[in-house]
Amino acid sequence: MEPDKSVKGKLLNHQQRVDKAMEGGGQKRIDAQHAKGKFTARERLARLLDPDSFVETGLFVTHKEVGLMRGRQKFDGDGVVTGYGRIDGRLVYVFSQDFTVLGGSLGNAHARKITNLYDLALKTGAPVIGINDSGGARIQEGIDALAGYGELFFRNVEASGVIPQISVIMGPSAGGAVYSPALTDLIIMVEDSSHMFVTGPEVVKSVMGEETSFEELGGFSTHAFKSGVTHFTGRNEEESLELVKKILSYLPSNNLGDAPIINATDDKERMSGKLNSIIPDDPKAAYDMYEVIREIFDHGDFLEVFPHWAKNIIIGFARLNGVSVGIVANQPKVLAGALDINASIKGAKFIRLCDSFNIPIISLVDVPGFLPGKDQESRGIIRNGAKLLYAYCEATVPKIAVTTRKAFGGAYIVMSSKHLQTDVNFAWPTSQIAVMGSEGAVNILYRRELKASDDPDTRRKELQDEYEKEFYSPYTAASLGHIDAIINPSETRPRIIEALWPLLTKRETRMKKKHGNIPL
Ligand code: HXC
Repeated sequence: MEPDKSVKGKLLNHQQRVDKAMEGGGQKRIDAQHAKGKFTARERLARLLDPDSFVETGLFVTHKEVGLMRGRQKFDGDGVVTGYGRIDGRLVYVFSQDFTVLGGSLGNAHARKITNLYDLALKTGAPVIGINDSGGARIQEGIDALAGYGELFFRNVEASGVIPQISVIMGPSAGGAVYSPALTDLIIMVEDSSHMFVTGPEVVKSVMGEETSFEELGGFSTHAFKSGVTHFTGRNEEESLELVKKILSYLPSNNLGDAPIINATDDKERMSGKLNSIIPDDPKAAYDMYEVIREIFDHGDFLEVFPHWAKNIIIGFARLNGVSVGIVANQPKVLAGALDINASIKGAKFIRLCDSFNIPIISLVDVPGFLPGKDQESRGIIRNGAKLLYAYCEATVPKIAVTTRKAFGGAYIVMSSKHLQTDVNFAWPTSQIAVMGSEGAVNILYRRELKASDDPDTRRKELQDEYEKEFYSPYTAASLGHIDAIINPSETRPRIIEALWPLLTKRETRMKKKHGNIPL
């Protein structure tokens, strides 16, 4: 039948084309997506964005006629929904891959839609949120699909440190699809329904002869507990999308702005009697740093990043009198709070994120040292511990540290010591700030004397007591100017808030260079 060329006919035809485009890969595939407990690309955006705020771009883009895609059925949008909208009233750019179209695979036109979005986001200074549900490079497009990934990776890196980038993994993220999220600031995986791997179980079996499953290879438990790939997990898609909104509330829209100040309703003078009794009398006994965090920060709210990985260090977002801050805290309950390879990497990653986006860093310090031993040395605790050191030195955002108990040796220096240009260093009277623990020090300094002693145990005890009296006290560090004030634990919240407000206008310029050479 001849198309209706009247204005009315054209408008009707347009509406029909829009309706068709909205169907993605068609009802059968949408039903299959729902049957897996997954929302469609559009349903996800509807849940993520403020109501009626989504403006779509590139609805009628279709694939390029290359490789095995020549002459194939065309799907409007080419397997990805792109555009912009608002979250809590703030502008964000979004893309959502449509698994119902060729498995959400990334062809060149699909990639161009995303890179165009990045170009706009960079020009306007707004975050990009990517919802990933993709089988990776579209095999039928060959190298043109790889070219698309390359263009996207370049944008990811250009945008790094300029606008926040958040990736939500809501299905497979296979092959090239893993590296774009890996280049973004924060990743959220949906538990049980998302997988990230460079190559799938079948290829692993044929190439490596290894039997494995999707879950073992790339499920949330691998990436949240072992690999440190995903920063967060959500129990389902709704929770994961809510997490995006929560994360954004702590971040500015770009590196030139500040995070919104919200919910400044907790008393800024609030004291905590609980903190006066939280440190055990036995210096080797553990206590829970989460309890300290809950007492200090606004309303006890804490958005933890990497909650399951390297639990000997705790990192995450909180607020002080409404101001968004990043927390880096040793956890005495795990490995006595010692810094190992993963803890160093975890801390360093978070410090660099905070520093990129003008978020002050509050460190809570109770650290006996770097974790010693063959395993850590052979896997590179030197190279990896240096990352944490580098990140603290490099950070020019306001830095405040509170030593609650131990701060020994190299770990004392690393954990936001005054010498790394920390702006304000507090210590509790329970602090032990020393070059090393008394046991190790006495063994080194008095080895010969102890060998010759008739009663080495009693003598060792005497020498340790002497050492502890001389070196453990925070007053020695304070008298040397390495600690600014010794404060009562109960007054920690008001003292940090009081220290923070003058620092909110802090400007620190370092020597100009192309970029530093962080020990990767
Ligand atoms: C083209 C793809 C595709 C891909 C899936 N499809 N992946 N089409 N290119 N990469 C298509 C399927 O053919 C199928 O089409 C539809 O998407 C749904 O896929 P199913 O396999 O039926 O779904 P499911 O069982 O849920 O499995 C999803 C999957 C699996 C785990 C993603 O499809 C898979 O393993 N795909 C390959 C993943 C992979 O190895 N990617 C690497 C690509 S190379 P029909 O028409 O039948 O419905 C790469 C290199 C880039 O990415 C490197 C850059 C650094």
